[in-house]
Amino acid sequence: TASNLDSIFSNSKPTILVSEKLGDAGLDLLKSFANVDCSYNLSPDDLCSKISMCDALIVRSGTKVNRQVFEAAKGRLKVVGRAGVGIDNVDLQAATEFGCLVVNAPTANTIAAAEHAIALLSSMARNVAQADASMKAGKWQRNKYVGVSMVGKTLAIMGFGKVGSEVARRAKGLGMHVVAHDPYAPADRARAIGVELISFDHAISTADFISLHMPLTPTTSKVFNDETFSKMKKGVRIINVARGGVIDEDALLKALDSGVVAQAALDVFTEEPPKDSKLVHHENVTATPHLGASTKEAQEGVAVEIAEAVVGALQGELSATA
Ligand code: MLT
Repeated sequence: TASNLDSIFSNSKPTILVSEKLGDAGLDLLKSFANVDCSYNLSPDDLCSKISMCDALIVRSGTKVNRQVFEAAKGRLKVVGRAGVGIDNVDLQAATEFGCLVVNAPTANTIAAAEHAIALLSSMARNVAQADASMKAGKWQRNKYVGVSMVGKTLAIMGFGKVGSEVARRAKGLGMHVVAHDPYAPADRARAIGVELISFDHAISTADFISLHMPLTPTTSKVFNDETFSKMKKGVRIINVARGGVIDEDALLKALDSGVVAQAALDVFTEEPPKDSKLVHHENVTATPHLGASTKEAQEGVAVEIAEAVVGALQGELSATA
């Protein structure tokens, strides 16, 4: 297109806007190829006014790349890179209509997310966060914080993709009985880890612990709701490091109040940061602010993975146009 040719020939280097913190190794790679504008915490309006000067945009989960952003780009934006796995904060329909490629970093934070799920599982079972808060408040409550054991308990992994399988491996090491539900996972991969693939209802009704690892799609939106909570074993414990939107948060609050769900450990929320903090303040909830992918190692890995993907996509775009 004309605007594309403008960007290639008038200013030989493309411009990449990075709207959330990206690891140094990834930034260095981007800078060797493009003009890089790191502008964090942009308001939606500021993002829209900058975007028409950019050939690519790199985001994490905090930037909503909606239709308005693609409209404001006036045809120049060619690539959106998601520094992570989930692309639910990018309007894919609008991206397609505006001829923009969307790429992600599908592997570099797998282990970090799995490790965070295990951290939440074990700290929830032993009330680590609550007991720590109590000690910091000057108390010594040994009877209040008696936990539950993990060994021999059934863990249901909902979504047996990269992260789900790594959680399964680790949970087996803790002596848990692991089952999984995933309509797309191959049975031989599950068998190799010693995990039984079973139906959704069977998984949620037999589990002592349920860990969520599915993407947020129209099919999985609020799949944990009044009806599905009512099928769970009383006293079940839930871990969510996937996406807040797969849980109906009002239904979870009711299930926690009635004791159907004994405890929940939540890293993700329907709205981030959550406006309504009833869940966060519930005494049986352990909450972290979307830290699943946040290890030094994962963030460096993700930065390089997304930088390579974005540069590759822009190079493809440039050679197709030239
Ligand atoms: C992901 O989808 O990979 C994570 O949500 C990454 C992130 O923390 O942004």
